[in-house]
Amino acid sequence: MRIFSGIQPTGRKHLGNYIGAIRGYLDGQERGDPAVYCIVDLHATSVAYEPTALPAYVLDTAAMLMAAGLDPERCVLFRQSDVAEHSELCWLLASVTAYGDLQRMHQFKEKSAREQELVRTSLFLYPVLQAADILLYKTDEVPVGDDQRQHVELAREIARRFNATYGEVLVEPEHVIPTSGARIMDLQEPEAKMSTTGGTEQGRIYIDDEPGAIVKKVKRAQTDSGSEIARAREKAGISNLIEVYAVARGVAPEEVEREFGGQGYGAFKQAVGEAIADLLAPVRERYRELRADESELERTLAAGADRAREIAVPVMDEVHEAMGLGRSVRHPR
Ligand code: TYM
Repeated sequence: MRIFSGIQPTGRKHLGNYIGAIRGYLDGQERGDPAVYCIVDLHATSVAYEPTALPAYVLDTAAMLMAAGLDPERCVLFRQSDVAEHSELCWLLASVTAYGDLQRMHQFKEKSAREQELVRTSLFLYPVLQAADILLYKTDEVPVGDDQRQHVELAREIARRFNATYGEVLVEPEHVIPTSGARIMDLQEPEAKMSTTGGTEQGRIYIDDEPGAIVKKVKRAQTDSGSEIARAREKAGISNLIEVYAVARGVAPEEVEREFGGQGYGAFKQAVGEAIADLLAPVRERYRELRADESELERTLAAGADRAREIAVPVMDEVHEAMGLGRSVRHPR
């Protein structure tokens, strides 16, 4: 079972990333042969960004993933730009990607609308690079949050069209989306997902937030004017808190509704804040330690890239051969 997922190197990851995806990476680490996790710095160049800050963001993200429990001895953890095959396969897959499919991508529409100066072609090609990430490792399973559903679906379509056009080389991946916590919402705008780039600062809980800050943010969370602790379409804020509490305490949402039935929003929010703080505290503590040793982080990523290349290079050879492309660079005489 080959498992692959990618995560953007933004300085601070949030509760949605942790619950929706990182927990799935930990599960994948137990089952993957191997599980491959990639910090996608090439994707980060598809919108305006600060080149001098990017390397540190990659290290932040690596330390955060390890603090959450990824063990580089048991999975492959690396930086995307260290493995040149990702960029190369992106170009090759563009030959089996329908232009119209890319125009229909939700995230392109959202992100291009936010760009102030330049909508980069790389933002349009973003899903093709993501497909390359996945297909380069002949991935069976991709653990992601709900917002990546369409991207993984496109990767499947690209694999199908590649195989139909050039012969059976690539594997069609399945997404693995958690049954609860796949879409954590912004605390201030519970109709919108918690997000690094969208949403609100006060509505976002960072994995490394102090416990006191977490409780404060949850207490200020936007809720309806009612008083019932129950999930309902018109109670987006409370529904989100129920879901988060259920995941943080490892219980079913129905149980949470029962446990807090009859109690007011104030007491419930306090309990949710504490549950999140308890969930994240050990990660925050380990993060500090791991982040302090930059050369060790760099060594870990470099070793991960070597292992990733061992898988990627032979797959690229097959792709080149199937597409009738040159091989002399890889196999010099
Ligand atoms: P990124 O870095 O935005 O998010 C990383 C993971 O976190 C999940 N996620 C959420 N889950 C639940 N609730 C939320 N509010 C929430 N916000 C984010 C995402 O679904 C994701 O799994 N395009 C990808 C990175 C990528 C990738 C890949 C993923 C590049 N190549 C190949 C899988 C396979 C992204 O921007 O994730």
